Amino acid sequence: MTARVRKAVFPVAGLGTRLLPATKTIPKEMLTIVDRPLIQYAVDEAREAGIEQLIFVTGRGKSSLDDYFDMAFELERTMEQAGKSLDPLEPSRSGYGEIVTIRQQQPLGLGHAVWCAREVIGDEPFAVLLPDEVMRGRPNCLAQMMTAYAQVGGNIVAALEVDPSETHKYGVVDPGSRNGPLTEIKGLVEKPAPGTAPSNLMLPGRYILQPEVLRALDAHEKGAGGEIQLTDAMAKLIGQQPFHGFSFEGQRFDCGHAAGFVIANLALALEREDIAPTVREFLSGL
Ligand code: UTP
Repeated sequence: MTARVRKAVFPVAGLGTRLLPATKTIPKEMLTIVDRPLIQYAVDEAREAGIEQLIFVTGRGKSSLDDYFDMAFELERTMEQAGKSLDPLEPSRSGYGEIVTIRQQQPLGLGHAVWCAREVIGDEPFAVLLPDEVMRGRPNCLAQMMTAYAQVGGNIVAALEVDPSETHKYGVVDPGSRNGPLTEIKGLVEKPAPGTAPSNLMLPGRYILQPEVLRALDAHEKGAGGEIQLTDAMAKLIGQQPFHGFSFEGQRFDCGHAAGFVIANLALALEREDIAPTVREFLSGL
């Protein structure tokens, strides 16, 4: 029997420098794809996948993230009095489940951000979702991973093939045998130098991890870019616990840079019945 995954960590304390100048005052995770912020896509994915407790690791200037998930009493009352529909506010009105916020006082890296949540995670498996990666799929990416986790347990990370020229930007898998969507992981390397990656299978930001990874992060070892990397801590568990990459069915949008952000807006706008015709007409005019 595998222990159930009830908690998810959302590391949202990064500086978002690739989306400056917007991110000077707006948290990257509050930038909108169509009409909802990035963080809402990640939270909805986690809730649909059965997560009960949402753990935000935030930093300076990120308080709008917490406010976003509160009920907006004054706004609702004003809208009600004006006879406006409260439908757009429905998710926050019916509640998002339990939200815990933790501060990462300095952006020392993704591994450090996850480590900051260690007391709240405790001694149970947990998920990590990077909100600047929007995943589309039915069931959603984390839900597909949960199904696989129920079968094989251990650690499961989403894995995606990219062009070999891109691997130096990501955590990359050294793959073993493949069984359907699951690939055994023999090694992991963060941002390998161009031409040295063990494969073109990268980690796009969805993880189901065992709590032992937090012990590996205790050492605060710095890796690629001088940051405390989650990939390096995960690599230490390989051989001690089952470790698989999961090729999910669906689409991934990397919204952490300008081109990916614009592409995600267009693609998701075209999924929306209410605005798709207008957007499509404009695009075909281009
Ligand atoms: P990124 O590598 O995208 O870094 O982090 P970033 O700071 O957000 O953006 P750039 O590279 O400067 O443009 C991946 C995820 O990890 C979080 C980020 O908020 C993002 O969700 N993160 C990163 C932290 O929470 N803390 C950190 O110290 C670093």
